Amino acid sequence: MEKVYIFDTTLRDGEQSPGATMTMEEKLDVAKQLARLRVDVIEAGFPAASPGDLAAVRQIALEVEGPVICALARTTKDDIDKAWEAVRHAARPRIHTFIATSDIHLEHKLRMTRQQVLKVAREMVAYAKEKCEDVEFSPEDAGRSDPEFLYEVLEAVLEEGATVLNIPDTVGYCLPDEFGALIAGIRQNVRGIERCIISTHCHNDLGLATANSLAGVKAGARQVECTINGIGERAGNAPLEEVVMALKVRRTLFDCYTDIVTEQIHRTSQMVSQYTGIRVQPNKAIVGANAFAHEAGIHQAGYLRNPMTYEIMTPASVGLTQSSLVLGKHSGRNAFRARLQELGYHLSDQEIDRVFARFKELADKKKTVTDADIEALIEDELYQPGEIYRLELVQVTCGDHCIPTATVRLSGPNGVVQDAGLGTGPVDAVYRAINRIVREPNELIEFSVESVTEGIDAVGRVTIRIEADVPDANGNARKKVYSGRGADTDIIVASAKAYISALNKLLGARQQAKSSAHGEAGL
Ligand code: KIV
Ligand code: ZN
Repeated sequence: MEKVYIFDTTLRDGEQSPGATMTMEEKLDVAKQLARLRVDVIEAGFPAASPGDLAAVRQIALEVEGPVICALARTTKDDIDKAWEAVRHAARPRIHTFIATSDIHLEHKLRMTRQQVLKVAREMVAYAKEKCEDVEFSPEDAGRSDPEFLYEVLEAVLEEGATVLNIPDTVGYCLPDEFGALIAGIRQNVRGIERCIISTHCHNDLGLATANSLAGVKAGARQVECTINGIGERAGNAPLEEVVMALKVRRTLFDCYTDIVTEQIHRTSQMVSQYTGIRVQPNKAIVGANAFAHEAGIHQAGYLRNPMTYEIMTPASVGLTQSSLVLGKHSGRNAFRARLQELGYHLSDQEIDRVFARFKELADKKKTVTDADIEALIEDELYQPGEIYRLELVQVTCGDHCIPTATVRLSGPNGVVQDAGLGTGPVDAVYRAINRIVREPNELIEFSVESVTEGIDAVGRVTIRIEADVPDANGNARKKVYSGRGADTDIIVASAKAYISALNKLLGARQQAKSSAHGEAGL
C-alpha cells in the first residue's frame, strides 16, 4: 500500500471563506489539533496578505510539532521572502508558490503571455529553492489550462527543484474522469515527474471536490489538499473527512492509506466550526449531526440487529463515542475528566477547572448532562476569541404587553459598565444595550439559535455574524464578517454571549490592524 499525504489548507484556503476569519490564538489551536489529527502538511496561511497573517504562520511554525508547516506565496520575490520569513523556524518548512496557467487567467487577470508565465514560474521556484529545500508549485486553474502548456511549465519548475506539483481545479470545473485524466496525462508527459509528489487541490463548485480528489489518487496523485468541513472559497474545498474516510472505508480499491487519526475527526470538525462560525449542515457526510442517525423504522430494525446493515463505518471511527457513563450533579471531577479524555479533549488542569465549574452549574439545572452539552460548554468557555469584554449580567423584561427592555453589565477596558436598551424583542434590546456600552458600529447579518440536545431543559447555542468596516494591510476600509457563538440553557444569555464573542473578534482585528500600521506586528 502507498501513502497518500494529507495537506490541510483550512488555515489558508479555508480561512478565505467569508466570515471565517480566525484570531492568532484560534489559528494556533486549530494547528495543534491538526497535528493531533496527524495531517502531513499544514498550510498555515498566506504571509504576504497582511502582517497579522505572517505573524500567525510564524507562531505556528515555532510552536506546532509534527507536520510540515507550509506558507503560500505568489511568484514574486516579496511574497516568497515573506513566506520564508514565516516558516523558516519550523522543523520542516515548505514554501508553496503559484501562478495561473489557464489562458483566461493569463489574459484577464495576469495580462501576461505564456512565455512570461513560464519564465516567472521557473525563476521564482529557483528563488524559493535557494531558501527552502521543500518547494511546492501550483499552476492555478490547471483544470482549465491547455495540457501542453501545463506540461511545459511543470517540467520547467521540476528542473528548478520543485518537490511537490499541486494541480488545482481552482474553479471546481472538472468532472472526475477529466480530472483523473489530467493527473494521468501529467504523469505520462512531464519529464522528471517521478522525482516529485503529484498533489490534488479540488474546489467544490459542482459538488465534485471529493470525487475529483479521489479520481486524482486513482490516477497516481499522492498528496491531497483539503480542508476541515470542506470550508473554503465559494463552495469550498475537498473536505478532509470525506477524502480520508473514503480512502479508509474503500482502501482495497485504492491500495493506499493515510496516517490520519480518524478518531480525531469529529473533534477537529467541531473546533473549526466553532472558530469560523460556519455551521456544519446536518446531512453533511461524516461530520453532520445526522451522519449516523437512523430514522426510518425499517432502517432502525436492521441497524439494531447488525449496525453494518446501514452503517459503512462506525461512529467511533470518526470520534463519536457513546458514553456508558451518565454525568449529573453528583458526578465528581475525576469522572468528568475521564469523559473529557474519552471525547478526545486535551485540556490543561486550569481549563478543566473552568469547564467543571460550568458543568456543575448546568447539572443543577439539567438532570443528565450529555456529551453534546459538554462540547457546547467547552466551546462556550474555552474556544472564544481573546477577551476584551465579558458579560457579567443580563436581565430582560419582555412579553406581549410590554416594551422589551434589557439591562446589561459588561467588564471591559473601562472597568465594569452597565446600561439598558429597548428593542423590538428581547434579543434586540440586549444587543442595543451592549451597543451603548461597546460603541462599535456593525451590522448583524445572521442570527441563529439551535438546541444542542433534545428536551425542554436543553442547552441552546446561538451563532451570529456581524459585518463591519476594518482597515486592510494598506489602511483601506474593507467590509469584514466576524462570527460569534454562545451557549446557555437561557437563549437570551446565549445570544448576549454570542454577540460579545463576535465583538471581541472584531475589536481584536481592529487592534491588530492598528499595531500592524505602527509596525508592531511582532515580526
Ligand atoms: O484554488 C487554487 O488554485 C489555490 C491555489 C493557490 C493553490 O488555492
Ligand atoms: Zn484553492
